[in-house]
Amino acid sequence: MSAPRIPIRLLSLALGLVACGPAEQREGDPRIGWVADISAELPEWLSETGIYADPATLSPGPGAVAYVPQHPLWSNGADKDRLLFLPPGTRIDPTGAEFAFPVGTVLVKSFAFDAIEGRDGAVTLETRVLARRADGWVYALYHWNAEGTEAALAGADWRAESLTLEDASGARFDYTLPGKLDCRSCHETPGTTPVLGIARWQQPEALAERADDLYTQAPPDAALDTLADSPEEAAAMSYVVANCAFCHNGRNTGENAAFSLEPPVFRENTVGRETDSSASGIGVRIVPGDAEGSALYEAVVRTRQAGYRGDFKPMPPAGIDRVDPRAEQVLRRYIESLEPADAP
Ligand code: HEC
Ligand code: HEC
Repeated sequence: MSAPRIPIRLLSLALGLVACGPAEQREGDPRIGWVADISAELPEWLSETGIYADPATLSPGPGAVAYVPQHPLWSNGADKDRLLFLPPGTRIDPTGAEFAFPVGTVLVKSFAFDAIEGRDGAVTLETRVLARRADGWVYALYHWNAEGTEAALAGADWRAESLTLEDASGARFDYTLPGKLDCRSCHETPGTTPVLGIARWQQPEALAERADDLYTQAPPDAALDTLADSPEEAAAMSYVVANCAFCHNGRNTGENAAFSLEPPVFRENTVGRETDSSASGIGVRIVPGDAEGSALYEAVVRTRQAGYRGDFKPMPPAGIDRVDPRAEQVLRRYIESLEPADAP
């Protein structure tokens, strides 16, 4: 007998009643709706934001730039669709330690899965929004209806919500829609801007191709292969840029996350280096040649295996319901490519 599945929330019934005339278009501003004037409250429905011309097909609204970070975060295998909106005539300043985004910037990420509850085609579950207002950054979440035609803004103090999904192979897994406070646990490491996918080590190709329009000047080189000693090391660096370094960036004040995993210091802070404190397990982060004996591998892979009894916390600590098969592969290959002599 199959276990009951939690249905995806159905939000479409009231839609016919909603007036959704987009705000008046500003002169010279191709963008429409809330995206063109984010000082307004966020609209209740995604279709009123101007983010998508047609939510059903995720076709971008006017003024959107679609991009993929160089090192995308693993999110339980979801397909992600990302958009950037910059106010006309403004640019991203890549010259500081952190990229600076103009007031009025809107960033969007929608999450979809291929197979859900017997439905055909990709199903979009959530759309996350990050916007830079004059008085700071705003986070928002839109929950999609079951038809995939419209999404509703999560209320003021929304909580995390869990759905049961099924992947293409028929395997079930839980998927957590983040709560309001969860966004900041990843996006607000002290001393950084909340934008994680357009950053020092994350320069999306689609933006680089239009650098003259989008950046105030050419951003610094972000290639990893020149910093790495081997292709295995470049792959490991890419993996931690995507999944770890937004917390482990050396600017995090949280005691045990203070060490940096950013590319220039990745090797010296991991290979042969002991963990910082007993709070989350004592060990050596990377023991050359020994994946199972390495704290980094233990935290990322072994903590999420059934029956794990060690002291490490699962890494990353949030946003994962399903282990990334690439983590196992990339970290193991790197660790096994190292010789004992590689430890400092
Ligand atoms: C587990 C950590 C984590 C959590 C929790 C999280 N994010 Fe993100 N988010 C990231 C990372 C890393 C990226 C950049 C990499 C990517 O897009 O694959 C990102 C990208 C984004 C983007 C695209 C702009 C950017 O920063 O690159 C938006 C918008 C966004 N997140 C919004 C949210 C909102 C809103 C929430 C809460 C509802 C949230 N995120 C929760 C880690 C997280
Ligand atoms: C959302 C922020 C966040 C992300 C993302 C994250 N970590 Fe951590 N990490 C922490 C915190 C906080 C601790 C301290 C945990 C504790 O002791 O309670 C920690 C501890 C650790 C430790 C043990 C402490 C030490 O001194 O070595 C390791 C190893 C580690 N993280 C590796 C990783 C790796 C590898 C990734 C990416 C796959 C990752 N972390 C992603 C926040 C994060």
